[in-house]
Amino acid sequence: MIELKNITLIKNDKKILNNINLQIDDNLTTIITGPNGSGKSTLMKLIMGIEQPTSGEIIFNGQNITNYSISERANLGISFAMQQPVKFKGITVKDLLKLSLRENASNEKICDALSSVGLCPKNYLDREVGSSLSGGELKRVEIASVILRKSNLVIFDEPEAGIDIWSFNRLINLFNDLNKRLGCSVVIVSHQEKIINIADKILVLNAGQVEEYGDKEVVLPLLNKTNVTQKKCKRR
Ligand SMILES: Nc1ncnc2c1ncn2[C@@H]1O[C@H](COP(=O)(O)OP(=O)(O)O)[C@@H](O)[C@H]1O
Ligand SMILES: [Mg+2]
Repeated sequence: MIELKNITLIKNDKKILNNINLQIDDNLTTIITGPNGSGKSTLMKLIMGIEQPTSGEIIFNGQNITNYSISERANLGISFAMQQPVKFKGITVKDLLKLSLRENASNEKICDALSSVGLCPKNYLDREVGSSLSGGELKRVEIASVILRKSNLVIFDEPEAGIDIWSFNRLINLFNDLNKRLGCSVVIVSHQEKIINIADKILVLNAGQVEEYGDKEVVLPLLNKTNVTQKKCKRR
């Protein structure tokens, strides 16, 4: 379980996150949504340790990890697929996927992960990550690397970005039972209704604050109303 306590992040005098209090439960799929610029990516970077809060605490399974580095958090089993993946030069898809595994990866596992994101292993294993992959292909390789890692919490920031419709449907299937397959918590930042639909819980961020947070059955109907982003912060 990960808890955010009174998390505020100020950058250049701007409050990007404003007193976030949140508890993400184990083994559930939590979808985070909200308007552009509402702070979703920043919140995910805070959990991963890429950003540091101005004030507040992050507690992971009872441990205060607020001052932990990215690699210390990765060692605790927090994995993150970025909105814009990093391009590694001179490294093949196969090597990248091998690197992401902590124990020795069988080729079969690597191939299964590539297939599950809609990339034919035969065509992709030896491709160079830095120069030869399109944005959508790179994104899918990154998703494959995250699902290969042994994790307690996996975070995907807009996994659908730049991905074609065929692969998108495959991704939905992949995410649908990912928490059960990996035996861990899955957090996905998304605007896509089909992805939001697989949630156990939905969090709506607006202007750096939690606007809605609760079970899908409660929050989803509110999302369909146009005034959801005008309501005051409310907890469910
Ligand atoms: N390094 C930064 N310096 C200043 N403002 C930033 C920085 N990074 C993000 N922001 C601002 O913080 C807000 C939230 O950004 P972000 O978390 O990327 O939003 P989202 O992912 O919800 O679209 C935006 O207004 C963005 O412009
Ligand atoms: Mg974002």
